[in-house]
Amino acid sequence: MTEEGAFRRNFEVLGEDFYNAGRVSTEIKEILQQVGVAATTVRRVAIAAYEAEMNVVMYARRGTVCLELTPELVHLLVRDEGPGIEDIELAMQEGYSTATERMREMGFGAGMGLPNIQKNSDRLVIHSTAGVGTEVEIEVRF
Ligand SMILES: Nc1ncnc2c1ncn2[C@@H]1O[C@H](COP(=O)(O)OP(=O)(O)O)[C@@H](O)[C@H]1O
Ligand SMILES: [Mg+2]
Repeated sequence: MTEEGAFRRNFEVLGEDFYNAGRVSTEIKEILQQVGVAATTVRRVAIAAYEAEMNVVMYARRGTVCLELTPELVHLLVRDEGPGIEDIELAMQEGYSTATERMREMGFGAGMGLPNIQKNSDRLVIHSTAGVGTEVEIEVRF
């Protein structure tokens, strides 16, 4: 999606970098607050961005988050290099998770990330190629 005059920013996310995990979604949240986006919308975007970011940290080698703001919506494109998702329908089910024991000990792996992105967005499109990576496109309308 490209639109003249839209605000755009790119962020990097590193796989397994649990120390910095959540920074990108926090930054996105702060940007939205600074430009005066309504609190309920900020919250929806922050949840969706956090879950997508964490999935890159947990399951992929590296990824990028592209934030785009237009007068109508917030658009997030989260792309990663990683194993991909073989069965997207299965991955979308509440409670489904392939998180490791170590991740579960850190409090992750409830299998609610993708369902929460779905709930908090107006559009969620996932494209994935096994062995290559995943593309998660999220839209939240104002
Ligand atoms: N970016 C990704 N790359 C590879 N697999 C993913 C990615 N995002 C999600 N998945 C797969 O989908 C499952 C469900 O994801 P999610 O709903 O966020 O739950 P959780 O992260 O708690 O496992 C994950 O356990 C994983 O198997
Ligand atoms: Mg998750």
